[in-house]
Amino acid sequence: MTDDDLLDDSEGAPGDEWEEIDVRDTEADRIARERDREFSQFRDQLKDAEDLKLEESVFDEATYAAIYKLVQDGHIVAFGGPISTGKEANVYEALGPEDTDVAVKIYRINASNFQQMRDYLEGDPRFEGIRGDKKSVVLTWTQKEFSNLQRARAAGVRVPEPIAVQRNVLVMELIGEEDDHAPTLHDVAIENPQTAFEVVREYMRRLYDAGLVHGDLSEYNIVVYEGELVVIDIGQAVTIHHPNAGDFLERDCENVAAFFSRLGVDVDGDSLCGYIHENADPRED
Ligand SMILES: Nc1ncnc2c1ncn2[C@@H]1O[C@H](COP(=O)(O)OP(=O)(O)O)[C@@H](O)[C@H]1O
Ligand SMILES: [Mg+2]
Repeated sequence: MTDDDLLDDSEGAPGDEWEEIDVRDTEADRIARERDREFSQFRDQLKDAEDLKLEESVFDEATYAAIYKLVQDGHIVAFGGPISTGKEANVYEALGPEDTDVAVKIYRINASNFQQMRDYLEGDPRFEGIRGDKKSVVLTWTQKEFSNLQRARAAGVRVPEPIAVQRNVLVMELIGEEDDHAPTLHDVAIENPQTAFEVVREYMRRLYDAGLVHGDLSEYNIVVYEGELVVIDIGQAVTIHHPNAGDFLERDCENVAAFFSRLGVDVDGDSLCGYIHENADPRED
């Protein structure tokens, strides 16, 4: 039966309100079908994209839908290649609006360390009462990385600008250039380690001041671009009220101090932690 048949039927029963509702429903269905078709075309396009082929297993239907929504909302114009394939997420390069480059971080719903993610979330007052199933944990985690980026940025820590979040997909500023994303601190030779250390120490102080502990800070989660240090991978950052916040801060201090002391900077984990405690006045929420 075509749409025309339906319209004819309704015309044949004047004054019957149900007929009219039926017709509207049919139009809504048609629009929905049209959307479905556009969506499947988009999904096929993504599936065919050479760079995404290997990663196909990451994308379940709902993830395609989330990416599609970000495309419709204009945050992503075209997908580029993968930057990184990690334990819990893959990061892709993409074209944003007006020729900007963006990074798209897609968390796996089947993240292998989901139990650990849940432990991080459970002690965080911002996420009290979230459901404990895999999907809820991963979606909350993605949202948390977005909020942490906003909070870090507001505190004056250089992080990628958060742009949009949809389900398990986070869009942020790409640090670096198209096809040439910024290297991590681990991958570059630093000429002035003392200055770099002081910048990282100040970032840690500002984060702590803003009530956050990164929780996975090291030379692998700091990238270098145009002479600036940019902190990334802030999904696991917890508020200072988290029962493990103290341990996380100590571990961050140990990692950062170990890296810079290998480069000749006179620092150890304890003195770095001491500096942060003495010089920060963390906000309470
Ligand atoms: N906004 C970004 N701009 C440029 N490169 C990025 C960005 N975000 C992540 N990356 C790159 O992707 C890698 C993995 O991202 P990260 O957020 O650290 O995830 P993971 O949890 O897998 O470590 C980083 O080491 C970095 O090279
Ligand atoms: Mg990382």
